[in-house]
Amino acid sequence: MCGIVGYVGTEDAKEILLRGLEKLEYRGYDSAGLAIVNEEGVHVYKEKGRIATLREVVDSSEDGQIGIGHTRWATHGVPSQLNAHPHQSANRRYTIVHNGVIENYAQLQKEYLQDVALASDTDTEIIVQLVERFANEGLNTEAAFRKTLSLLKGSYATALLDNEDAETIYVGKNKSPLLVGLADGVNVVASDAMAMLQVTNEFVELMDKEIVVVTRESVTIKDLDGTVTSRDSYIAELDASDIEKGTYPHYMLKEIDEQPYVIRNIISKYKTEDETIKLDEDIRQAMLGADRIYIIAAGTSNHAGLVGKQLIERIANKPVEVHIASEFLYNMPIVSEKPLFIFISQSGETADSRGVLVNVKEMGHKALTITNVPGSTLSREADYTLHTYAGPEIAVASTKAYTAQMAVLAILAVDTARAAGIDMNFDPLQELAIVANAMEVLTDQKEKMEQIARDYLSVTRNCFFIGRAADYFVCLEGALKLKEISYIQAEGFAGGELKHGTIALIEEGTPVIGLATQEHVNLSIRGNMKEVVARGASPCMISMEGLNDEDDQLVIPKVHEYLTPLVTVIPLQLLSYYAALHRECDVDKPRNLAKSVTVE
Ligand code: F6R
Repeated sequence: MCGIVGYVGTEDAKEILLRGLEKLEYRGYDSAGLAIVNEEGVHVYKEKGRIATLREVVDSSEDGQIGIGHTRWATHGVPSQLNAHPHQSANRRYTIVHNGVIENYAQLQKEYLQDVALASDTDTEIIVQLVERFANEGLNTEAAFRKTLSLLKGSYATALLDNEDAETIYVGKNKSPLLVGLADGVNVVASDAMAMLQVTNEFVELMDKEIVVVTRESVTIKDLDGTVTSRDSYIAELDASDIEKGTYPHYMLKEIDEQPYVIRNIISKYKTEDETIKLDEDIRQAMLGADRIYIIAAGTSNHAGLVGKQLIERIANKPVEVHIASEFLYNMPIVSEKPLFIFISQSGETADSRGVLVNVKEMGHKALTITNVPGSTLSREADYTLHTYAGPEIAVASTKAYTAQMAVLAILAVDTARAAGIDMNFDPLQELAIVANAMEVLTDQKEKMEQIARDYLSVTRNCFFIGRAADYFVCLEGALKLKEISYIQAEGFAGGELKHGTIALIEEGTPVIGLATQEHVNLSIRGNMKEVVARGASPCMISMEGLNDEDDQLVIPKVHEYLTPLVTVIPLQLLSYYAALHRECDVDKPRNLAKSVTVE
């Protein structure tokens, strides 16, 4: 969470930093700030709220060709102007922005900074105060910065300006993502390449516990002892137009609509010349050799993992466990003799998942990451990666990344089954093509979805989603989507479980959205729906063609029973979107959230 940018070049840095921050706003948006250095010294602007608010206070007449910027998702200290970054040292020589959490900040303060009056409630301020302390003791800026970073425990991507040097940005990284972008006479820094595509598409990745001294003409990577190291740059395969909304009012709606194309893209990326699929031999062997698969993920990606478990168990006949990343280390199950860990993560940066990855690697286990961002931390640190090819997902609420994850899990399951010689009557490429068409039929029915959202969700304070088997997993996702963007209290339940407690919450008019796409439980979920209707619920049944009743509110086109979640979720995404719109919520940037959760 939090996004940082830096620029050292020949143009006025402010506008470039502001545009960069706008692209990083998905990483946090409760306050923002920037600093530029010119011959008169450093100029800091910061505000509570969004980048748009920051823009209003930035003095456009104050030029500077070097600067740093930050958009914040608060961890230590409430969102406020005081706690917004950049932070400055006591004598204002140094100015810093930081993404991450410094775990030992209190101890460092006690040990080194007892005589310094801190200006904010943040852990970040400790970093900048320490740099000044060590500089005052005689170290040059780079050495003071390296010494400071070597004392820190926790995560950081950080950029430092020295008021007395309008030529250099010092950056450092541990666990939080950070890239340095290269151009002619210009170099930049960013948490995500998207922010600096406006300047360059050539980037160098930083490794943990490295610093980079960035000037207009040079980029010098060093470890914390000061030893210089070199690394090849890469070209970010991103098209700037992928990250624009175009004519859409919101990224979320654009990304919902992109899902049929994403599925077709996945088919084309994973299809071999002979119209079949075959994954890398390494991945095949890792799957074949595992006696049990452990899927680790958070939030929506975890919901995709639940569907993945079913796919891998049913198609490839391998036992699978699905774990919430943030719980796994504190509540570790007995791990089998030959496990394979699969990390599912849109961003590839989720700290909870990364914590597990680091641990299981230390234990000597193999790991596969399924991600939308190859080159991300989880992708780099795992043994193998499968790409979901969904294109940049900007809206905080995940939509196309979720369906892409499930499609790739289906491909993985089939590849494993084929390699194991399991006979199956399921062609994933053909069935996914049918899914893409079914998705299109649903995304074309926006008016109907809007009407259902208006009827059921515009005034309610709560909502329940019920389903059985694979539909239950989609209910969890439908409820999460509705909660996060419309702030309606929503819960997803297994149809049979409601009567064991939660049915007490059903009152006259409570919306209950039922899913019925699984033949073997069609009658029982309909029975559960009758139970809630008898207690006053307002029912909305979404069923699959062939299993539908006359009065069902929405019938989705028929797809293979393994793949129904990819299609059933579309109306739930659209209902959440329209419910949030009717309630005048900020669809793309819901309160308290951030897209990339890089703190534990
Ligand atoms: C919800 C959502 C989150 C993420 C979760 C994990 O719409 O997007 O629940 O799924 O924070 O993020 P990734 O997939 O990036 O690891």
